Amino acid sequence: MRAMVCGGAGYIGSHMCRALRDAGYDVLVLDDLSTGHRAAVAGFQLAEVNILDMGAVDAVMAAWRPEVVFHFAARSIVRDSVLDPEGYHLCNVVGSQRLLESMRRNDVDKIVFSSSAAVYGIPDGVPITEDRPLRPINPYGETKAAVERLLADAADVFGLRSVSLRYFNAAGADPLGGIGESHDPETHLIPNALRAAAGQARLQVFGTDYATADGTCIRDYVHVGDLALAHLAAARYLEENEGARVFNLGTGNGCSVMEIIRAVERTTGTKVPFDVCPPRAGDPERLVASYATAANLLRWTPVLSDIDTIVDTAWRWHCTRTY
Ligand code: UFG
Repeated sequence: MRAMVCGGAGYIGSHMCRALRDAGYDVLVLDDLSTGHRAAVAGFQLAEVNILDMGAVDAVMAAWRPEVVFHFAARSIVRDSVLDPEGYHLCNVVGSQRLLESMRRNDVDKIVFSSSAAVYGIPDGVPITEDRPLRPINPYGETKAAVERLLADAADVFGLRSVSLRYFNAAGADPLGGIGESHDPETHLIPNALRAAAGQARLQVFGTDYATADGTCIRDYVHVGDLALAHLAAARYLEENEGARVFNLGTGNGCSVMEIIRAVERTTGTKVPFDVCPPRAGDPERLVASYATAANLLRWTPVLSDIDTIVDTAWRWHCTRTY
């Protein structure tokens, strides 16, 4: 089976490439390396192409003729999206639209799309099921909801088969080493807490007055390796099912910022120096997934996502990282 991984040089995409190779797929990575890393896809075929470059995407699609496309290529920093909504719309929505057009022209009819819990905005309650209303509160979440809509339309209009996976908080790194999370600037909690443990910075804790047991926000952290396994299951699902489906990917368990700090202290054996700062605009108090639909239909259940495994693999990456 041939797979095309758009955005394969990024954090989740690079873990996907390895999972696909382990599952026996032939993999072609399409990435413009604007935020991805060449080193993350060493040993894989790489087409250095921007997803907006329709002619180049088309040429790669026609030559590779993938059976399935995995689409990770997107800008993904919430705060950035508030400052540059047009840029986010162009890359995430128009880029996806062009990719779908190219798939249609080349008779490629299966896609697994990276969506996000950001499509829900501030939920009425947790755990969040897929039937909850989509009320994104930032341009990033809006772009993900818009692409889900495009995929639903494409199923009706030309029979495109799709699965949209709404990730909660992707975290951790390949237990075998060599790849992991590398953003610049880094905005995510776990890498920032690890940096603080390593004495490279102080962690900022954004808000301690939320209505949670310790006052800090609760998130559902899911290991990037578990996300990759869910994509494999989604590709198998598309072999047998038509239409456009959405699935939450989380663990059903929430961890507060303080609980993450304690987990980092357990793993590293070091105190995490931190300062309490004002809440970050637009941070929902609590995001926890129900993954019952993925469990039922994809037969997926997280196996690497206990918080100590997540932090332990992320710490090993932090200590050995090359990019
Ligand atoms: N946090 C800190 N200090 C930091 C970084 C984060 O206190 O240095 C807090 C945040 O305020 C939040 C929690 O840690 O309460 C998690 O923050 P992250 O930035 O790690 O993750 P988010 O929940 O903000 O964002 C993630 C994904 C987004 C996605 C969103 C869905 O990174 O792409 O979940 O809601 F949109």
